[in-house]
Amino acid sequence: MKFIEVMEKRHSSRDFKKDEVSEDTLREIVRIAGMSPSWENSQPWNVYIATGETLETIREAWIAENDKKIKGSADMNPGHRTNFSERGQKNMADFMDAIGKFDDDEDLENFNHVQHILFNSPAVVYLTLP
Ligand SMILES: Cc1cc2nc3c(=O)[nH]c(=O)nc-3n(C[C@H](O)[C@H](O)[C@H](O)COP(=O)(O)O)c2cc1C
Repeated sequence: MKFIEVMEKRHSSRDFKKDEVSEDTLREIVRIAGMSPSWENSQPWNVYIATGETLETIREAWIAENDKKIKGSADMNPGHRTNFSERGQKNMADFMDAIGKFDDDEDLENFNHVQHILFNSPAVVYLTLP
């Protein structure tokens, strides 16, 4: 597949099949992603993949945190949306219009819920930096 096709066909998925992804496939994905450029070729990332029971434990923890209404606390603060450029704010507004047709609080609650169940994904890859 040509790179242009990769870019044209890619999209964010928000509901995955629960089918298991083989360890070989996961390792191959990480190998290919590892071809990404890095400062002085330091390749400083560590990769952790959660599947099976481990991932279920993580999913349950997310749901429990969500139930407690605990807000996220990102290590790298992206800043408040109102500080984004006009173009960025328009893109976000269009995004919410497109996917966020929340008629009531229940719809919004449902959207939050699918995020907290990690979109049913059968594997989650965590990248960490020292
Ligand atoms: C850093 C980052 C964070 C994101 N966070 C979320 C998120 O919390 N929930 C979500 O549904 N999508 C999230 N997305 C996906 C974006 O909404 C999506 O990339 C954007 O709307 C463009 O759509 P596309 O990826 O289908 O082309 C995130 C994407 C990035 C790059």
